[in-house]
Amino acid sequence: MKDQSQFPCNFVIFGATGNLASNKLLPSLYHLEVANRLPPALNFTAYSRRDWGQEDWKKHMQLTLQDKIGENFDEEIFAKFSARFSYLQGELHDLDSYKRLYEELSKPKEGVCSNMIFYLAIKPTEYNSVVKNLDAVGLNKPRGLHRIVLEKPFGEDIESAHLLNEVLHRSFDEEQIFRIDHYLGKETVQNLLVFRFANTLIEPLWNRNFIDHVQITVAEDIGIEKRADYYDKAGALRDMLQNHLMQLLAVVAMEPPPALEADALRDEKVKVLRSIRPISKRSISAHAFRAQYAAGFVNGKSVAGYQDEEGVEKASATESMVAAKFYIDNWRWRGVPFYLRTGKRLAKQMSLIAIRFRYPPQQLFRETPVESIAPNWILLSIQPSESMHMEIHVKRPGLEMDTRVISLNASYRKTDEVPLDAYETLLLDIIEGDRSLFIRFDEVEWAWRVVDPILKHWAQERDFIHTYPAGTWGPEEANRLFDSEDHQWRNEL
Ligand SMILES: NC(=O)c1ccc[n+]([C@@H]2O[C@H](COP(=O)([O-])OP(=O)(O)OC[C@H]3O[C@@H](n4cnc5c(N)ncnc54)[C@H](OP(=O)(O)O)[C@@H]3O)[C@@H](O)[C@H]2O)c1
Repeated sequence: MKDQSQFPCNFVIFGATGNLASNKLLPSLYHLEVANRLPPALNFTAYSRRDWGQEDWKKHMQLTLQDKIGENFDEEIFAKFSARFSYLQGELHDLDSYKRLYEELSKPKEGVCSNMIFYLAIKPTEYNSVVKNLDAVGLNKPRGLHRIVLEKPFGEDIESAHLLNEVLHRSFDEEQIFRIDHYLGKETVQNLLVFRFANTLIEPLWNRNFIDHVQITVAEDIGIEKRADYYDKAGALRDMLQNHLMQLLAVVAMEPPPALEADALRDEKVKVLRSIRPISKRSISAHAFRAQYAAGFVNGKSVAGYQDEEGVEKASATESMVAAKFYIDNWRWRGVPFYLRTGKRLAKQMSLIAIRFRYPPQQLFRETPVESIAPNWILLSIQPSESMHMEIHVKRPGLEMDTRVISLNASYRKTDEVPLDAYETLLLDIIEGDRSLFIRFDEVEWAWRVVDPILKHWAQERDFIHTYPAGTWGPEEANRLFDSEDHQWRNEL
């Protein structure tokens, strides 16, 4: 059991009425209450601009949780959980609101109190303002104790990421900053570390001698929903690839860390990101591809094209799908392409890491009905199910020497084990002060360095973008990234 004297007593959620708070933070915190993992002295302040009283907030929280949790909603747990909350009406830009927050947090409360958490569940454009105002009223002090949590995206390019970091560092030390990439909280991603480094069977094969290429797909079937104001400026490269997919790539490719400590893990991820071969201006079209969805059908329903989504600029060239190829120039991975792709309104909701192995060096079965042996795959599914699949050849029963591929399927969970949301893991880590699954600034910086040349190039070429019908896997032209004719996207387990 961890030393609770270091645990926080106040947890402030800026933007408590927003989507992230309603869909992820409140349900995950509630589940931590159910699991009895919230420290007894921990209180929450829900900070938002709506002119609400305590009862309005409580009603909102109850309706939100009943909707998200369904029949497992428990009145008794909710009573305990909601008693931890108070609502504070405040503006993000108004210093007086922060003075009221300061007064509220300074009121003596029961229990041990050593630090506070400020969770910025707000638009990234508001981060600077909140950090400066917290500093102005002294809520960042004593330095070293309070924690500040920021969501992705961290900056919109390398320059703005640096600026934001400077603003943060004027008021908070790096140890206090928790940059979230919720993909790292997912069970499969953590399991990847165990899979690679706890199994002697796997690690000797995990290199350029045996692996032909790696594919990382994060596909969504939803569109941009009501987020055009953000998405039309960001696009898929900034929204997903620079952060989630680059983090997945780093975990797949990293060397074993000397210890399972936050900085040791992050050092290894940074080494991978630093080793990615820079993409020159001339080779961008061979390494990166972008496209935008047109009208189409998703799950049998007709849906609008990107250009017709509410709030999207006329003739916008923002990509809703991106595919990219990277090489990691180190001893382990030299010459192995890493294909990454992500997009909205694709054929289905699927996050998959697919590792394709090389062909066997000898075609021993050439003179038999087995014409050619297909290569092995290891598939690590993150969504919709968290599972692992290993495709191997076996002899087909019968008189002939023939083979077939079977898949060894392993779900990480036994049937009675409940799936955890990534935010439950991450929120508990923030409360307990474990930074292993959070992003250090140099990781953000190196990931921006990798994608920055693509961003800059595309920013200049705004007159044409490929399109794909919603509900498909994107245009055929994306295949131009492949190094070999026998490479193709893996769309199924
Ligand atoms: N939504 C997700 O599932 C998701 C997933 C991953 C990351 N994120 C990240 O999480 C962050 C929040 O996203 P979101 O989708 O939750 O945004 P959102 O739905 O727009 O919520 C923003 C929140 O900030 C409040 N707010 C806005 N302007 C304010 C002001 N001037 N003064 C006081 N409060 C103000 C809003 O209050 P009102 O309710 O009164 O408007 C709302 O509570 C973003 O950085 C996003 O990139 C979101």
